[in-house]
Amino acid sequence: MTIRLETPADYREVENLTREAFWNVYRPGCTEHYVLNRYRKSPDFIPELDFVMEEDGQLIGHVMFSKAELMLDDGTRKPSWTFGPISIHPDYKRKGYGLKLLRYALERARKMGVGFLCMEGNIDFYKHAGFGLASRLGIHYHDMPRDKEVPFFLAQELIPGWLKANGISEATYCPPKGYFVADENPEAFEAYEATFPPKQKLRLPGQLGYEE
Ligand SMILES: CC(C)(COP(=O)(O)OP(=O)(O)OC[C@H]1O[C@@H](n2cnc3c(N)ncnc32)[C@H](O)[C@@H]1OP(=O)(O)O)[C@@H](O)C(=O)NCCC(=O)NCCS
Repeated sequence: MTIRLETPADYREVENLTREAFWNVYRPGCTEHYVLNRYRKSPDFIPELDFVMEEDGQLIGHVMFSKAELMLDDGTRKPSWTFGPISIHPDYKRKGYGLKLLRYALERARKMGVGFLCMEGNIDFYKHAGFGLASRLGIHYHDMPRDKEVPFFLAQELIPGWLKANGISEATYCPPKGYFVADENPEAFEAYEATFPPKQKLRLPGQLGYEE
């Protein structure tokens, strides 16, 4: 197994991998491959933290990082970071690859000076890479009341004490615009999606908002 930086020659294969990994997991179909496609052109994208994982001569994993912001209660914005999508090909899920890729990427991020990360995800996976509830670090989710537990909003100080050193005791996370491209331009997303082989969209238990 090897981990290396993504190159332009990988782009289409990585987008297909992202589509395969996310398809029908959180909603019928998925949009994460389009997010990735658009993000590489964004100034928030961090090319030095854009990794692919190879095994058996094929790409089986990918993760990207982004610049983000934290907003203090007085409205001051502080630069911060987030990451995702992270994808492992369905044939290779739950074999430890995702955790290996994430731990590698986090270490590289820390060495680059990325001191703090927050993101949305399943704590059952991310706890193995050092993440906990963001609220425990005083960081709040942008569209939820502060007193409400947000179990999917996670964070970690990669550099211990980074928040305090940057004058942040409490703040609200501002997710980068790049994550909302599919909602903002559904026609462009549909045109992009149509360039992939057809796949069936299914409503499945476990998806966001699924009700029996
Ligand atoms: C999430 C993902 C990156 C995890 O990678 P992976 O290689 O499958 O996970 P790992 O084998 O490294 O998991 C390590 C541990 O994390 C936990 N874990 C991983 N995926 C989990 C899940 N979906 N639900 C609950 N726990 C999970 C388990 O404790 C697992 O150990 P175990 O398999 O011995 O029980 C991968 O499954 C994936 O691409 N999923 C679809 C896309 C996605 O959801 N991306 C993340 C969006 S936030």
